Amino acid sequence: MTDKVAKLVIGDQTHEFPVLSGTVGPDVLDIRSLYAKTGMFTYDPGFTSTAACDSAITYIDGDKGELLYRGYPIEQLAEKSNYLEVCYLLLYGELPTKTQFAEFEKLVTRHTMVHEQMHYFYRGFRRDAHPMAIMTGVVGALSAFYHDSTDINDPQQREIASIRMIAKMPTIAAMAYKYSVGQPFVYPKNDLDYASNFLHMCFSVPAEDYKVDPRIARAMDLIFTLHADHEQNASTSTVRLSGSSDANPFACVAAGVACLWGPAHGGANEAALNMLREIGTVDRIPEFIARAKDKNDPFRLMGFGHRVYKNFDPRAKVMQQTAKEVLSILGVENNPTLQVAQELERIALEDQYFIDRKLYPNVDFYSGVILDAIGFPTSMFTVLFAVARTVGWISQWKEMIGDPQKKIGRPRQLYNGSPNRDYAPLESR
Ligand code: CMC
Repeated sequence: MTDKVAKLVIGDQTHEFPVLSGTVGPDVLDIRSLYAKTGMFTYDPGFTSTAACDSAITYIDGDKGELLYRGYPIEQLAEKSNYLEVCYLLLYGELPTKTQFAEFEKLVTRHTMVHEQMHYFYRGFRRDAHPMAIMTGVVGALSAFYHDSTDINDPQQREIASIRMIAKMPTIAAMAYKYSVGQPFVYPKNDLDYASNFLHMCFSVPAEDYKVDPRIARAMDLIFTLHADHEQNASTSTVRLSGSSDANPFACVAAGVACLWGPAHGGANEAALNMLREIGTVDRIPEFIARAKDKNDPFRLMGFGHRVYKNFDPRAKVMQQTAKEVLSILGVENNPTLQVAQELERIALEDQYFIDRKLYPNVDFYSGVILDAIGFPTSMFTVLFAVARTVGWISQWKEMIGDPQKKIGRPRQLYNGSPNRDYAPLESR
């Protein structure tokens, strides 16, 4: 809270509203009393100027291109930490001690298996179903399998539901993949770390040994870390809104998965790689740049632009470097898709249209190139995003449930439909 107030003049009436300050970032006008004082609502479709909650988890400065998890810059976490440590940080607010980390890792590892009956649940889906469709269904079904952790008023149940989701999401995602390619499900292996275990469940088969390349596992872990949380984005806001009605956490995360699927959000990594492939060769880039600038053409450069970042997405920088490293480890440095991506980025960043609108590559621009090189089909890209973002959704959900100011989310509207009118009987219409 500051001593600042904002004054709103409507006709001959002046109303005062407190201005609240966070630790960093823009101040906010506290308009909770607006309707009571003025009989008016605010109008902000897309929430471009609306802070919907208090949060102490993730901070973004879009002009600087800065992303902090609990105050730590993403670049430092990407270089020095690992995904499970980041999970602990997001969930509990501080980096773990050695003992805390060992206990947390053991707890997550011991919950990676899913209820055996869930195997049959998958069989209800068509083999050619999109894995995100399967994810939405299976994650939603978790509350039917784990009844003992759906009471949101019990802190112990909230805790166990959180651990279950972080632990089981890679297993559920790998099973969605295995189901789509007609291979047997692979059980988790407790002696592998989080990322290696995920690669093992996706790519090993019972017929032969599979050894996870630690360098590829490190890249996978990095992708998870970069996607772990991102403040009040569309899917996180969906999770919070669902949770505001006291729905159980599995149902809330399923709602988040559904929202993430859209191409304007998590679906952009799949769309970005499809676009790079469609461009195919660098000589075709100008044609696609022209289409992106043409207001009569719905085409947009996928993996470009962001609601909050008006500078380089800091995750994209790490992702670009990782893409080069992974392709070099795999001996495919001359990958044509990476070449198209790099040249497209160079041309777009020099183009006045993109400069004026502050459109830079976002996290999804390079992630697809890496995931493709590792061997994932494009339809799995958003699934991997969902695996990584689960901890963010859960951390934000837990924060909301513990907030004494929590209220059911209930936006209002500017009504533009017909005013009150009388029903006309069918025979008179
Ligand atoms: N290509 C071409 N023009 C663009 C693009 C783009 N990718 N993004 C925005 N613009 C233009 C847009 O046409 C508008 O131009 P004008 O002012 O002349 O009408 C201006 O830039 C502002 O765009 P906006 O749609 O008002 O911005 P927004 O904040 O509502 O949208 C966005 C943000 C991410 C949805 C949008 O940039 C976009 O559609 N990007 C492509 C999809 C994508 O990469 N999404 C992943 C986002 S990062 C990961 C995640 O959060 O899931």
